[in-house]
Amino acid sequence: MNAPQTLSRWSQPGSSRVPFWAYTDAQLYQRELDKIFYGPHWGYVGLEVEIPNTGDFKLSHVGERQVILVRDRVAPKDRATDHGIRVVENRCAHRGVRFCQNPQGNARSFVCPYHQWTYKLNGDLAGLPFKDGVKDGDCINGGMPEGFDLKEHGLTKLRVAVLHGLVFASFSEAAEPLEDYLGANVMPWLDRIFKGRQLTLLGYNRQRIPGNWKLMMENIKDPYHPGLLHTWFVTFGLWRADQKSRMVMDAHGRHAVMISRRNEGGQAAVTEGVTSFKAGMTLHDDRLLDVVPEAWWKVDDPSNPGSDITPTVTMITLFPGLIIQQQVNSLSTRHIVPRGEGEFDFVWTHFGFADDPPEMTQRRLRQANLFGPAGFVSADDGEVIEFSQDGFRQAGVTGSTLCELGGTGTEMTEHMVTETLIRSMYAYWKKVMAEAAV
Ligand code: FES
Ligand code: FE2
Repeated sequence: MNAPQTLSRWSQPGSSRVPFWAYTDAQLYQRELDKIFYGPHWGYVGLEVEIPNTGDFKLSHVGERQVILVRDRVAPKDRATDHGIRVVENRCAHRGVRFCQNPQGNARSFVCPYHQWTYKLNGDLAGLPFKDGVKDGDCINGGMPEGFDLKEHGLTKLRVAVLHGLVFASFSEAAEPLEDYLGANVMPWLDRIFKGRQLTLLGYNRQRIPGNWKLMMENIKDPYHPGLLHTWFVTFGLWRADQKSRMVMDAHGRHAVMISRRNEGGQAAVTEGVTSFKAGMTLHDDRLLDVVPEAWWKVDDPSNPGSDITPTVTMITLFPGLIIQQQVNSLSTRHIVPRGEGEFDFVWTHFGFADDPPEMTQRRLRQANLFGPAGFVSADDGEVIEFSQDGFRQAGVTGSTLCELGGTGTEMTEHMVTETLIRSMYAYWKKVMAEAAV
């Protein structure tokens, strides 16, 4: 099925009914890679704190393409203007080998194992064996052709932007500056967590989820499900439908922030009839709920100057593949790495702050048990995403989702009984996917 034709079959106006083929069509997915992941967007590749020293590197992905996030040498005179962070594609310029096999490490240079082409940390080709041939008496045998220029045969270098220790990369020259890309509505929520802070790395979780990558973005733009699907959340009061909440999005509707404040004490009336609420469920170790408010939680309310709000949860979705989570004292980035139309890897990086006292680090680590592949909360998300994909496949090319809680519009709201953020993402997705091939 040709992708533009497929899109023209999205006959419904608006974005509240997403056809099932948007999740299952392999050709459409290839177009998503080109238009979205390798197009004029920024993809998260990691945290600056993961590569603290010169030569430190780690493997990451932009879309399906594997890249190396690396800290290059920088001359002292350039340090004020050059952070030294480079992102290069893990694909040899000679015969295409994915040369780096270590998920992370420290290197002086990168050497491809096949014919030992050697690259500097910034991706420039430093040299290759037998470039000038092999001497045999008075003659020279072989070698690269005259005029072969090392400078023209480096690794693919991506554009790099670093914001408060978060590293983003793009294959596209057309991607706007990162802060413009993120937008003025979303920036204050990134500043709130990261600005002026030194991060510490607490650990990773990884999982492979058999569903389309967009389902993960939807899940984190969906305030309807947490108080219903997640027994843990609703029973222990971390998320209920009547909490004070706000749904924020950027001007394009592609990024979002779900902001919420948990109710103080007591069982809210909204648990009546919610079958996932288990009144008798208790914890053997209640340190999981040892929540300690932090000073930075409080922010000025941009929509109501002079007042402030103190969210206990902010779930930031940065299109196309990053989620940044604050759920009480637990902080993480979650990176979506697509692998075909029906599968993605989900990489969680848990972090804290360099000035956290040891008890706070322990608390963040304990609360991290809520999340990840076996988390008390998010194991259920991975499972329903798989069930969704199964349902879409079963329907063949017919059928669509119904995403009309709170209407069919795409406006910001001050409550969580809405699917507005999902509709706004698909309005943007439709626009990008319909654009003529570049
Ligand atoms: Fe990398 Fe030949 S393929 S050096
Ligand atoms: Fe969830």
